[in-house]
Amino acid sequence: MRGWLVPPPHETVKSEEDFKREREAKVRRLMREGYLRSPRIRNAMLKVRREDFIPRPYRDYAYQEVPLPLPGMEATISCPHSYPLFYEPLGLDEGDRFLEIGLGSGYGTALAREIVGDDGLVVSLEIDPATFEFAKSNLGRAGYRDIVLVLADGGAGYPPLAPYDRICITAACHEVPPPLTDQLRVGGTLIAPIEVRDVQTLTLLEKTEEGLTVRPICEVRYVSLRGAYGVGGP
Ligand SMILES: C[S@@+](CC[C@H](N)C(=O)[O-])C[C@H]1O[C@@H](n2cnc3c(N)ncnc32)[C@H](O)[C@@H]1O
Repeated sequence: MRGWLVPPPHETVKSEEDFKREREAKVRRLMREGYLRSPRIRNAMLKVRREDFIPRPYRDYAYQEVPLPLPGMEATISCPHSYPLFYEPLGLDEGDRFLEIGLGSGYGTALAREIVGDDGLVVSLEIDPATFEFAKSNLGRAGYRDIVLVLADGGAGYPPLAPYDRICITAACHEVPPPLTDQLRVGGTLIAPIEVRDVQTLTLLEKTEEGLTVRPICEVRYVSLRGAYGVGGP
């Protein structure tokens, strides 16, 4: 269905201690493998309890490198390594104004909130009402009350709080929706999986005075962007 295997659902048997141990081991491994480099992203991944953003029947798989299903149409929480994979080249840092397209579980949003800190801003857009409600309750339970959450087609961005320093699209698109590059400040960066002939490439864009520079990073596999700029069209 999604192009990857979903592990069998079951009731949680792991304890808080088990999850903490797994979280710390995952961070050490991502550092060893070169995905995770900056201290702010590392500290965020150590702090945010990923298991609290996963539906109960899949909680025990929180630190495995597998996308897990979420409420909503085709929504998934991405593999743990994908967050530093996106946020390190994006250059997400303290004080940034960050826009996320594809809230999903809210886990990546919580990480971003920890990374940008009190001087930054996090805005996240989600198109699917069931996914949106799931993420909103996860973030509320985890104590994140200062993130701007919007149920809307993220392809249009969120003009009231533009411009943004960093934009992250967590679903695959044929091209970056033009409203998003319009809402990126000069000097800002945007990262997205771009799909051409069934191959998705994680791509970093930088906005300069002269226009956009484009850098392909690696091949990835993500759910498709929906909405007006979606892979299947409006
Ligand atoms: C791979 S998931 C995001 C995972 C998320 N980063 C997390 O930590 O759980 C992609 C999300 O993008 C959402 N999405 C797809 N098209 C969208 C659009 N046009 N606007 C906003 N969200 C969209 C999907 O519903 C899904 O929740």
